[in-house]
Amino acid sequence: RKLSMISVPFGLGAGRAGAEQGPESIVRSGLLRQLKQLGIEVAAEREVNLPSAAPAREQLDEAPVPARNAKHLAEVLYTCSALAEQVSAAVTDGCFPLVLGGDHSIAMGTLAGLTRHYRNVGVIWFDAHSDLNTEETSPSGNVHGMSLAVALGRAEFAEMPWSGPYVRADRVVLIGARDLDPGEKEFIRQQGITCFTMHEIDRMGMERVVQEALRIVGSDTDGVHLSFDVDSVDPYEAPGTGTPVQGGVSYREAHLAMELLHESGLVTSAEFVEVNPTLDVNNKTARLAKELIGSLFGQRIL
Ligand code: ARG
Ligand code: MN
Ligand code: MN
Ligand code: MN
Repeated sequence: RKLSMISVPFGLGAGRAGAEQGPESIVRSGLLRQLKQLGIEVAAEREVNLPSAAPAREQLDEAPVPARNAKHLAEVLYTCSALAEQVSAAVTDGCFPLVLGGDHSIAMGTLAGLTRHYRNVGVIWFDAHSDLNTEETSPSGNVHGMSLAVALGRAEFAEMPWSGPYVRADRVVLIGARDLDPGEKEFIRQQGITCFTMHEIDRMGMERVVQEALRIVGSDTDGVHLSFDVDSVDPYEAPGTGTPVQGGVSYREAHLAMELLHESGLVTSAEFVEVNPTLDVNNKTARLAKELIGSLFGQRIL
């Protein structure tokens, strides 16, 4: 199995700095060694960067508040279109795209790249949040809270160099939700989006949740994308993230989910986002991300 690793050191979609250091911290935890041990060939290592002329975050934050409720939108869109190119190139090369974030706004780019190759892609979205805000409903103006909305065509930015929607609402499954804004809840209900909140995980168990999710994203689709926001995991296990929410997925539940996804053989691309090493404790969160990637690619205890 050939893999293309795409690092996206970008954090301007989040409200706090630091997620741009995520890819480096995951790699430094020994990701490449682990993939090698699993017999996976990393055929390409790509990196998506803002042009160096881009102003530093400090300058951007001091810039006058824009008229609209989407912070650093130009930087987000630039990064996402470059990422879409890289993801698309990886698929063309016959590689599994593994995207390392970066904040969750980059999912717009990953999905835009994937839909050039997949007619109908299913999405499993692990997250404490649903990232279904629009500029109108967002309480923060942080674009990482809008990326799934863009993919579904609920939110659209006129400046977007690609066009949505590129994912169907009935082929998206949310897992781990526990902090949803009012406008997001309304949209989930109205669209009938499958959302396994922490309540359903408690009641059904992670095994059934993942089986149900796979049934939904695997029917009549030609690809399945895993979008894994580390804040889906409980802050006790994943403290290094910008928007932690208590009461999350446990360490073992997260691994079990990745193991089941591996077993299914259905997943065709993945991204791990929102690791923020500046908030981390002893690299715990970066290591967790590395280990979860291991389980997704077949790591077993015995
Ligand atoms: N719902 C909140 C917002 O829109 C938090 C979003 C957090 N998103 C994330 N990818 N961590 O600001
Ligand atoms: Mn998210
Ligand atoms: Mn989140
Ligand atoms: Mn909130």
